Amino acid sequence: MTDESPFFYTWQRQRGARGLEITGGEGCHFDTPEGRFLDLGALVYQANAGHGHRRIIDAIKAQADQLCLSTPSSHYPAKEELARELLAAAPEGFTKVFFTLGGSDANENALKIARLFTGRYKTITRYRSYHGASMGAASLSGDWRRAAVEPGLPGAIHVMDLDEGVPGTQIPRVLELEENVGAVFLEPVVGANGVLIPPAGYFQEVREACDRHGALLVCDEVLTGFGRCGSFFAFERFDAQPDLITCGKAITAGYGTLGAVLVHDRVARFFEDEELVCGLTHYAHPLGVAAALESIRVYRDEGLVANALALEAPLLRLLETLPGTGARALGLLGAVDLDLDDAQLGALGGALRKRRVHAHLKGKRQLRRDRGGAVVVSPPLSITEEQLAEGIGRIAEAIHEVNGD
Ligand SMILES: Cc1ncc(COP(=O)(O)O)c(C=O)c1O
Repeated sequence: MTDESPFFYTWQRQRGARGLEITGGEGCHFDTPEGRFLDLGALVYQANAGHGHRRIIDAIKAQADQLCLSTPSSHYPAKEELARELLAAAPEGFTKVFFTLGGSDANENALKIARLFTGRYKTITRYRSYHGASMGAASLSGDWRRAAVEPGLPGAIHVMDLDEGVPGTQIPRVLELEENVGAVFLEPVVGANGVLIPPAGYFQEVREACDRHGALLVCDEVLTGFGRCGSFFAFERFDAQPDLITCGKAITAGYGTLGAVLVHDRVARFFEDEELVCGLTHYAHPLGVAAALESIRVYRDEGLVANALALEAPLLRLLETLPGTGARALGLLGAVDLDLDDAQLGALGGALRKRRVHAHLKGKRQLRRDRGGAVVVSPPLSITEEQLAEGIGRIAEAIHEVNGD
């Protein structure tokens, strides 16, 4: 018997790597052999309906009994129903869904759709962004994970928008200077790179510039969609008007593997007479589709999007009590900057684990800074104000422990 894992752990050196064993969970808590953790991270931002959700589990079981196998080009009722639900949740004018297996390949396929539609190969994204791990999506990403795929996608241009000391958007200027830009990919709120909320008017400026230069606007809602930011899609909070919307993570509340690209009619129509050169064996897999369909119904029936909006102000107030700076929140996605280096952040991780609270810690590689970290909070949308206060109290204790005060 060896301590070595037979599988790789993601995004890290393998020697000594060992993750938490998750054995189950209920509501805003998940269980481990170390005890029950309060989940202030929604695992990796996907568990928006919480743990052990009976309705979603039963829907997957019922689908498994009924139909497990399909082909990309076959159809069955849940596939159509889910597509209609997603389009009903999108702004007016969205008429088609392309299904994927998760967030990265949603962005890969959005990229292909944009290239096929515009005939242009360049993209604009932000340095403070993450769009996925596969070659194309990692090329679009701005954070440290891009280096592993370089030289990446030709024409992947990155801008400093929302970074420190950059007040507005550089995108209109870059669109003016560059030719052949087919698409601008933006997370409505930057998630994994530290919760950056754009200023008022940002999306309007970008939209106008895209229209002027014939580029598509793609909103990457993989992390922010499905209620996270207090609206079904986060771009609604900014009155943004995307051409494509990419989805993943909480589309199934984490209970299945699925992603999607929602396509506005002005783009979808093009493929009436042109080949859509995109496809995946597990396109709209019945188990993923069943999980997504039931999750969306749960978000609606349990008022989870409204709860995320209602708890935005309490979350912000609680984050402001932490010994940090720059507290910010949109819906139930919030963060505060900490004056801790990466070694101290490692110690903070241990202090949080000891207190059995799960939240996301960000270091200099995500924040693109020499010093300082951040804690990001993104609980299941079913959380109560009391549970939030309890969890943030535990984070405060952990920070004090690391600060030695
Ligand atoms: C904004 C954003 N886009 C895309 C992805 C990639 O999604 P997946 O890991 O499901 O491929 C992520 C994952 O963290 C994300 O946060």
